[in-house]
Amino acid sequence: MIPFSKSDRLQRLPRYLFAELERKRHEAEAQGREVLDLSIGDPDLPTPPFILDALAEHARDPRNHRYPTSAGLLQARRAIAAWFEQRFGVALDPAREIAILIGTKEGIGHFPLAALNPGDEALIPDPGYPVYVAGTTFAGATPVRVPIREAQGFLPRLADLDRLVRPRTRLVFVNYPNNPTGATAPRSFYEEIAAWAVRRNVLVVSDAAYSELYYAEAPASLLSVPAARDRAIEFHSFSKTFNMTGWRIGFAAGAPALVEALVQLKANVDSGAPQAIQLAAAAGLASLDVHGPALRGVYRERRDLALDTLRRLGCPIQTPGGAFYLWGRVPEGESSMDFVSRVFEQTGILLTPGTGFGEEGEGWFRVALTSSVETLRRALGKLEALAPWKAPHASASPVSR
Ligand SMILES: Cc1ncc(COP(=O)(O)O)c(C=O)c1O
Repeated sequence: MIPFSKSDRLQRLPRYLFAELERKRHEAEAQGREVLDLSIGDPDLPTPPFILDALAEHARDPRNHRYPTSAGLLQARRAIAAWFEQRFGVALDPAREIAILIGTKEGIGHFPLAALNPGDEALIPDPGYPVYVAGTTFAGATPVRVPIREAQGFLPRLADLDRLVRPRTRLVFVNYPNNPTGATAPRSFYEEIAAWAVRRNVLVVSDAAYSELYYAEAPASLLSVPAARDRAIEFHSFSKTFNMTGWRIGFAAGAPALVEALVQLKANVDSGAPQAIQLAAAAGLASLDVHGPALRGVYRERRDLALDTLRRLGCPIQTPGGAFYLWGRVPEGESSMDFVSRVFEQTGILLTPGTGFGEEGEGWFRVALTSSVETLRRALGKLEALAPWKAPHASASPVSR
């Protein structure tokens, strides 16, 4: 036997749900069954040509063949600052308030290592993107889950934050447009959470990875609230905005001390994002005025199609304000996992059980709108034949909500 066992920090993690779903999928595919995957939020559309052209050009420049800097190219950070000011009305110092990331996940996963000590606590939305718990756990700190519920538009209640905050609470994560619920936050929410953070003397980490995917009003930035400027960091992604999940590129913006700490950490574990990708992504922001509405139109059509069908089937489901997910109720009396397994076994449609995002996700499932209208139609047709919200089902195990 080799002298190896996984580190305690790895063993403390909840199982990464998407790996589990991948396994189910491969198993079914190996058996030759058709899988209609509506589980993972990975855009089916290609990266737009204006990004690819810039990428090809910058990739040929030998200056971009060497190690990048950890904070990212100043030229790219300047382009980001210009966009940020135009989009959010927030002026950022590109040298001190912006750092480029190898995807937002990298920054969110690393930030707790730069900001938390063992024994510290972080407030994390439940349901929520699993990386907040993972990053906090890796830092030896304790994730404390804050329920976000339908009745409050999936915004955390300040009363819950007050109940859960303790002397070792150092930061609170917020994420709008929200994964998995599709909820959006008005600017007044950012004012409230910033004022709360000042009162409780904690930091705010805002995950704005879906800021450009919205169906009504364009979401605000937490950084537009003056009280947040010296105690907040906001994470932005190019992944969903430009269908570039595979290129791994995002950025962090916010208080200089927080950005600097993240950059220092990154300098010790990675060497920054490839420069050609930084330059192509940052230049792409200038095309967002044209690209953004077209992209949102694509998701709107998919959203409306899926919402109509699910409602017709009797699924209780709200209209999301942003991101590319639908968050619906599983049939009464059935657990999230049982429902998702039943649907997969009987139709080949892969959904995400709400419990993959935390205990509060029990009773819910998520649909990712990252498949074509044709694929969605096929999947919804199969779901319609199953009619899970209407027919009583034998295998359900009761759950309390
Ligand atoms: C809420 C949220 N934040 C961050 C990310 C990561 O984005 P990126 O591809 O930039 O790492 C995702 C990806 O699914 C997400 O859902």
